[in-house]
Amino acid sequence: MIKTYALVGTGYRGLWSYCEPIVKEYSDVARLAAVCDINPLRARLVGEYLKADIPAYTDFDLMLREVRPDVVIVTTKDCAHETYICRALEAGCDVISEKPITTDEDMLAHILETEKRTGHKVTVTFNCRFMDFYVKIKELVSSGLLGKVLSVHYEWLLDTSHGADYFRRWHSIRANSGSLMIHKCTHHFDLLNWFLDDEPVKVNAFGTRRFYGDDRRPHGERCLNCQYKRDCEFYQDIDTEDGGRLRMLYKDCESADGYIRDRCLFSNVIDIEDSVSVNIKYAGGAVVSYSLTAHSPYECMKIVLNGEKGRLECDTALGKETIRFYDRDGQCVNFDRSHVKQRPGGHGGSDPALRDRLFRGYAEDPLCQMADTRAGAMSVGIGIAANISMREDRAVRLDEFLGGFYPELK
Ligand SMILES: NC(=O)c1ccc[n+]([C@@H]2O[C@H](COP(=O)([O-])OP(=O)(O)OC[C@H]3O[C@@H](n4cnc5c(N)ncnc54)[C@H](O)[C@@H]3O)[C@@H](O)[C@H]2O)c1
Repeated sequence: MIKTYALVGTGYRGLWSYCEPIVKEYSDVARLAAVCDINPLRARLVGEYLKADIPAYTDFDLMLREVRPDVVIVTTKDCAHETYICRALEAGCDVISEKPITTDEDMLAHILETEKRTGHKVTVTFNCRFMDFYVKIKELVSSGLLGKVLSVHYEWLLDTSHGADYFRRWHSIRANSGSLMIHKCTHHFDLLNWFLDDEPVKVNAFGTRRFYGDDRRPHGERCLNCQYKRDCEFYQDIDTEDGGRLRMLYKDCESADGYIRDRCLFSNVIDIEDSVSVNIKYAGGAVVSYSLTAHSPYECMKIVLNGEKGRLECDTALGKETIRFYDRDGQCVNFDRSHVKQRPGGHGGSDPALRDRLFRGYAEDPLCQMADTRAGAMSVGIGIAANISMREDRAVRLDEFLGGFYPELK
């Protein structure tokens, strides 16, 4: 049976991770019936780029009435997820939503309530759960190698290319993204919840912005016409970067919404943190110290899990994957990753693997890689609690805003 899909949010993720694969790889099981975006130029681009007849809407409810899709895919900016998830559920559709499920506690409550009442289903796409390195960590922790996990030290480093890009785009304004604690860290917190097979109960956080924003140096509004571009280490050429994709998707569509994709990293509109330190306590008793640095000289994820039977140390420093287990007898087991080849496809092959599950279905999910609203809520729950903690200078319990839905979260 061919299911019909409608997608809202025809930006980078929408076009290349969903629209193009549905049309080119999944036409035996899926039909992209229509797309919608507040920017009509970007909405129309989908059909033009894919050379396919895909109706483009700017009115979401009209699209649902006319197209009657089985499933709505939500790939708008983060703060708009809730309105489309809920309107799609109310219209009788199931939903696939990109991470983060939403950006604050009120919108999260609306999604959880609407899903429960309508009986339709929301799937949250956590592609990191399909990346080989994290799958290996999940398998080792689930195998019982460490015994019960007692504490975790967890660090995420974004360099001044990847990390900087969040400060150019809509993500850098808290009202759009909920901050990196939501937009980016939802991946990290979801991995943590997934590795531990547990749920967070209490969070304390400190954050600051030390590198981007705030007129740190003389600067222009955007790279395109900046007088300092010759000397700026962060200059981005929107015309040529990414093989011209940024020009096509954003610069050529600016006239419709004024969105500037190459805005200066030192703009004073930026209001999110670039350095955050978070402590998390889990229901099962594990305690976690996590930190995010968005201006690191190199990209890396490091996680150390201290268990009853030993310590698992994992990191990706300088593009090399390392996993070592230290047992209580002084032995070290090196889980050599040098032979592991990167799988083709977006995000280390995780996007194609996730799409196969989404569009072709699956009989079994032994590692629990598919995520529902509860998993979506628990990952943004840590970010929401961290944001409240930073704002109100106190530790925050997740049951303050999730207790009505999950009373066992004590
Ligand atoms: N899982 C991943 O690896 C991954 C990677 C990138 C992005 N994402 C997620 O995908 C989503 C889109 O990100 P992106 O990088 O494609 O951003 P983008 O800026 O390229 O695209 C966002 C699109 O949403 C549209 N939009 C904004 N507000 C809207 C509204 N109120 N109604 C309708 N359309 C609206 C914009 O016009 C734009 O076309 C985000 O939620 C992001 O977190 C996930």
